[in-house]
Amino acid sequence: MKRPYVICHMMGTVDGRILAKNWGLKNAARYFEDQAAKIKADAWLVGRTTMQEFSSQKPYRKRRGRFDIPKTDFVGEHRAKKFAVAIDPSGKCHWDTNMVSTEHVIEVLTETVSGEYLDHLRSKNVSYIFGGKTELDLELVLRKLHDLFGIKRVRIDGGGHVNGSFLKAGLIDEFSLVLTPLADGTSGSPCVFEVGEERPGRKATRFQLKSIRRIERDFLWIRYKVVKRG
Ligand SMILES: NC(=O)c1ccc[n+]([C@@H]2O[C@H](COP(=O)([O-])OP(=O)(O)OC[C@H]3O[C@@H](n4cnc5c(N)ncnc54)[C@H](OP(=O)(O)O)[C@@H]3O)[C@@H](O)[C@H]2O)c1
Repeated sequence: MKRPYVICHMMGTVDGRILAKNWGLKNAARYFEDQAAKIKADAWLVGRTTMQEFSSQKPYRKRRGRFDIPKTDFVGEHRAKKFAVAIDPSGKCHWDTNMVSTEHVIEVLTETVSGEYLDHLRSKNVSYIFGGKTELDLELVLRKLHDLFGIKRVRIDGGGHVNGSFLKAGLIDEFSLVLTPLADGTSGSPCVFEVGEERPGRKATRFQLKSIRRIERDFLWIRYKVVKRG
């Protein structure tokens, strides 16, 4: 089983913050999206918190009953060539359709999800894969995305927690940063990589500059390759 090539793409302030609400930028998403569109990828992948900005905004009512659905991967019917992947271990995103824009939705779950949730996904033809019993094995997740959907290049679009998980697992090949000319300064708000508790001996990830471009007046688009440790 092969895994896709992974490019993490983010927009951040000089202090690494990623929540744009206090930045005072008109249409902040544009700075992110314009550069993202230039990165060749078959799929974009985000954490559950970020995906909830794209999934159903309607109140969801759980149904009662028995839902005997096996905890095995499901490929929903679709004709899309590109994919939107949610790291959603306990199944919190609900869907009105199996598409976000032109991309077919794939939910990445653990076996802790209920049969009722799987039935919901199947009823909308949303694809899902299992990445572990209670915790996700992110390398396995990438291999399944490659083998079941033919995904060869994936762009990880945040947020900080999902980026941190892939960074910690050593699964990021490139990092692309839209550097905004701002110092945010909000303590405790998520930053570009949230790796979690300190593990003794853990080393920072080193990057090698691939390209740098000035965009707009004061923004930079910086692309790095991850230096792999032998
Ligand atoms: N500036 C930018 O470029 C940019 C880009 C993307 C997003 N954002 C912003 O970032 C914010 C969200 O960032 P965030 O860091 O708080 O959240 P996030 O990374 O979007 O989502 C975090 C959630 O994803 C799940 N998850 C991630 N890694 C996992 C792992 N290894 N195993 C199991 N579950 C995992 C967990 O879901 P559960 O809690 O359900 O277990 C976790 O709470 C949003 O406000 C969004 O708008 C900014």
